[in-house]
Amino acid sequence: MIVNRQIRTLDEFTIQQLRDFPNATGELSSLLRDIGLAAKRVNVEVSKAGLVDILGDANLVNVQGEDVKKLDIYANTQLMGVLKHGISCAGIASEEFDDFIAFNDPVSNQSKYVVLFDPLDGSSNIDANVSIGTIFGVYRRVSEKGSPVTREDFLQPGIRQVAAGYIVYGSSTMLVYATRRGVNGFTLDPSIGEFSLSHPDIKCPPHGRIYSVNHGNFHRFERGVQQYIDHCQRKDETNGGPYTQRYIGSLVSDLHRNLIKGGIFLYPVTTDMPGGKLRLMYECNPFAFILEVAGGRATDGKRRILDIQPTGLHQREPFFIGSRGMMDELDSFLDGAVPA
Ligand code: AHG
Ligand code: MN
Ligand code: MN
Repeated sequence: MIVNRQIRTLDEFTIQQLRDFPNATGELSSLLRDIGLAAKRVNVEVSKAGLVDILGDANLVNVQGEDVKKLDIYANTQLMGVLKHGISCAGIASEEFDDFIAFNDPVSNQSKYVVLFDPLDGSSNIDANVSIGTIFGVYRRVSEKGSPVTREDFLQPGIRQVAAGYIVYGSSTMLVYATRRGVNGFTLDPSIGEFSLSHPDIKCPPHGRIYSVNHGNFHRFERGVQQYIDHCQRKDETNGGPYTQRYIGSLVSDLHRNLIKGGIFLYPVTTDMPGGKLRLMYECNPFAFILEVAGGRATDGKRRILDIQPTGLHQREPFFIGSRGMMDELDSFLDGAVPA
């Protein structure tokens, strides 16, 4: 049998990166391995969701007032479990918990990272067999090692992320993560149960032809956003014709596609959600980090997402993210350069 040594697993890849930095402790590698393990467990449940009684509402409402599905709870428990029992994470914050959790045991208190995550993104799509995901951001703690983590360790601007990533449970399951050195994608090879490097050094094309937005909210958007959407629909034939609209309603799936193919995603403020819908800490920051490393941009319409100083763990923001050229084009509508 021929063994293809060209294809590296997630563990092999992170260990190889470690070899390039002799002073590195390996904590980040072990953290990513832990998250990969949780992802494999969640993947098993996601893929049999239609068969067992794990489907459907758990009759609970999370801190943000949204229905919590059973798989959200399962994914939340798995992620928290691997991070708590690993050696690299001192505490977590999750979309599903009101407050952060300091693991506060002797080993965890010596760990240098905290992880913020959305355990299951796009959960309203579970019952319809549509792709869902997990999103995470990793920060170096700012409090002293040796003590339990504090709120300041979590309320850091996104620019301080050391790594960020997502898992998409789709037609195949992929884990994509970014450090400042690059964005790499790993596809779960079911024959060996390992994430294998399938998308090395991902770059977001500077221009794309996809725009993603919930069109049902069109009449609740600000004028500049409406004008930009109108522009996407009216691009003339000499310009390649109108953009294509794609919107799944799972942020992970929408942004994974746009990252690979090029595109722009918009979740602006609406008249009924004047602060925006998506969560800065669990959704916007990790993707802003990934897209920027890949060459794209992310803003709240005015500010760079990664520069926002958070004030609350569950803060929401308007969110615009995508290919650099399309974001620049959007800006000209949002800053009033294009007349109303
Ligand atoms: P979650 O399932 O974690 O609550 O996130 C749902 C989010 C996100 O995945 C998606 O982009 C957005 O909600 C869709 O919102 P609309 O249904 O309002 O378009
Ligand atoms: Mn989400
Ligand atoms: Mn969620």
